[in-house]
Amino acid sequence: MSDKAVDKLTPKQAAAELERLASDIARHDKLYHGKDAPLISDAEYDKLRVRNAAIEARFPDLVREDSPALSVGSAPAEKFGKVRHAVPMLSLDNAFDPADAHAFVAKVQRFLNLDGSPVITAEPKIDGLSASLRYENGKFVQGATRGDGREGEDVTANLRTIADIPHVIKGAPAVLEVRGEVYMEKAAFAKMNAALEKDGKQTYVNPRNSAAGALRQLDAKITATRPLRFFAHGWGELSEPLAETQFDSVQRLADLGFPLAGIKRAQNAEELLAIYESILAGREKLAYEIDGVVYKVDSLSLQQRLGFVSRSPRWAIAHKFAAEQQTTILEGIDIQVGRTGALTPVGRLKPVFVGGVTVTNVTLHNSDYIRGVGADGGPIRGGKDLRIGDTVIVQRAGDVIPQIVDVLLEKRTKGARKYQFPERCPVCDSHVARELEPGEEGVIARCTGGLNCPAQAVERLIHFVARRAMDIEGLGSKQIEEFYELGWVKEPADIFKLADHRNELMTRDGYGEKSVANLLASIDARREPEFSRFLYALGIRDIGETTAGVIARRFESWAAFVDAMQAAVKAKPGEAYEALERVNGVGDGARAALIAAAPELKGPAGDLFASGEAPKVKGVTAKAWQGLTDAFGSLAEAVAAIKAAAKQAPGDDYLELARIDGVGPVAADHLVDFFAEKHNVDALKRLLKNVTPKDQPRAATSSKVSGLTIVFTGTLEKTTRDEAKARAISLGAKVSGSVSKKTDLVVAGPGAGSKLAEAEKHGVKVIDEDAWIALST
Ligand code: IVH
Repeated sequence: MSDKAVDKLTPKQAAAELERLASDIARHDKLYHGKDAPLISDAEYDKLRVRNAAIEARFPDLVREDSPALSVGSAPAEKFGKVRHAVPMLSLDNAFDPADAHAFVAKVQRFLNLDGSPVITAEPKIDGLSASLRYENGKFVQGATRGDGREGEDVTANLRTIADIPHVIKGAPAVLEVRGEVYMEKAAFAKMNAALEKDGKQTYVNPRNSAAGALRQLDAKITATRPLRFFAHGWGELSEPLAETQFDSVQRLADLGFPLAGIKRAQNAEELLAIYESILAGREKLAYEIDGVVYKVDSLSLQQRLGFVSRSPRWAIAHKFAAEQQTTILEGIDIQVGRTGALTPVGRLKPVFVGGVTVTNVTLHNSDYIRGVGADGGPIRGGKDLRIGDTVIVQRAGDVIPQIVDVLLEKRTKGARKYQFPERCPVCDSHVARELEPGEEGVIARCTGGLNCPAQAVERLIHFVARRAMDIEGLGSKQIEEFYELGWVKEPADIFKLADHRNELMTRDGYGEKSVANLLASIDARREPEFSRFLYALGIRDIGETTAGVIARRFESWAAFVDAMQAAVKAKPGEAYEALERVNGVGDGARAALIAAAPELKGPAGDLFASGEAPKVKGVTAKAWQGLTDAFGSLAEAVAAIKAAAKQAPGDDYLELARIDGVGPVAADHLVDFFAEKHNVDALKRLLKNVTPKDQPRAATSSKVSGLTIVFTGTLEKTTRDEAKARAISLGAKVSGSVSKKTDLVVAGPGAGSKLAEAEKHGVKVIDEDAWIALST
């Protein structure tokens, strides 16, 4: 992880770092939730998420489709029926210190343009697992786990065994989904574990895992013997509102018979922090484990206005307690090669129990990190390097990935070995290239083997079939690795030709007629994927789920998208233009002015240069000319470079793509790079012989603005621009950052500048805020 201060990152660095964080966190999540052991400490993981959130907060336009902020856990297991949540079960953003809590309150206030602090509730964050209980006409009819937030497991029978959960309630709305936490008390957990141990059975590491294990028993009779409890903290689908505030709504749940862990109201951030301190002080004495305090905006109408970012609400945050720390030994360092070829060093630890789990692996990010150097060149861990054999302090909090926070130098032995970062890929032996972003420190080491590197090829295939991508059941990393080794599946297109190997497959260990038939059927079931899933599955850098969704909604059909990509490739800026973009002191405006003036600029022999004076171009300052001269060597060379750049300036087809709200220049570049490569286009063609992405259905909303491309500019006075944008998107509109001939509507507040002029130029309709409110409500 780069240590460069978030407020110092350029958008390009931020995008690169968000990409890296997304892939790191996804990998750690997989290791943590999957069968494999976690790689890094919780605190380390926390830090990744915090940094990701900080960068996303500063660069909301760069939030990725695969943003870790969106991932909330693991997919449903096979054994239970699936339940699609009528209202998604969201995750919470985390706060780690008082400043974060203040920032949360301030952000809510700013977003809503309120005069004072909103009323906010505070309640303990229960360290259990969330469940949704559906009541119809007062009867408990279905209960589900959260799963991935959209779809969970049907654990109705198991939930019925929990005494805290009423089977029948009186006076409730006809449809009521109660959401809350299933947990196990500390004492009951200890007692149960002792009994399990006595019987020579497998014990659980902590109450949370134990509760999870109990809830996911296939036989509800076993669940019934486990001491599970339930606290309500919210709701999902409702046929009528419970009340007007969070506080009153959960009180209603309490009146209906659901236990609450206690909720208080605060008038401002100071009061929230006082409640946090009192809950923390009482933590040890509680019968159950809590890992923080959850703050929620009390007014439900304000909650609604705030809405969601990715998969967490803007109206709530979890203020987590500090992480637990332990010492252990760094026993080795291995390298993992990811989908994009990034080489990530992974520390192997002497197993240590910290923050409720045994930690054996920890990510070490990159070579600088091992050396004790952050991406901005400044020290981390006080500048101490990590050596194999070192005694290290590992930190982990609740549900987060562990990290090494310090090295105990006084315990370093003579045998401790410095780590030599490999120059060649440990998997394919290709040369390892150092990438200059982010932080220009060359921290990202990437294998140059591309798809010739088995690790990259396999990781990309695994990504392709993953649940969030093509979601091919029965094809996981194990099968992909096996089929890759056999030479059956070398690229995505091969997956759809697996039937050619049916007979050989049937003779392999672990496969029978039925399982082969099932596998082939689940592959066939994915021959017409959703546009956005298919695009995401291609694994193009920076095209996560969110961006893929934005693109699918924008282009609607795969053919239209590919046409646009081909046009964008042709309109892509050339080297000379990019050189101009890199010049210090020349901003977007000055660059545009220079490009427009390029044909008129006189060459080196022209009289303008006799005096050595810069040509006069409106909007280009003397300082900018100085920057140009410094960058290109002389004024004459600068002029030549500008003329060259003008010939290679990006065309409309490229700019159109980069302008899409939610795509942006970095993702646009990666898309264009992908479609500019013949081998990618060829592989895609082979794939499309067997797979036909479906058209993206139009947003169902019949609002007056659905389908329109809208640009907001100037100051909005009754809402904020962020709120207005979020509203427009929820109404099915497309929001763009700049005006072009494809813009349908400009909403301009006071102080609107160049965008207004652009709108006039293109004859785009312009309305004020009042007209927007009338249109959108
Ligand atoms: S509110 C939309 N309140 O923490 C907000 N969640 O990290 C939904 N949790 O998935 C969650 N105690 O399982 C809320 N008092 C509380 C909670 C709580 C524990 C869990 C819940 C959620 C997770 C988010």
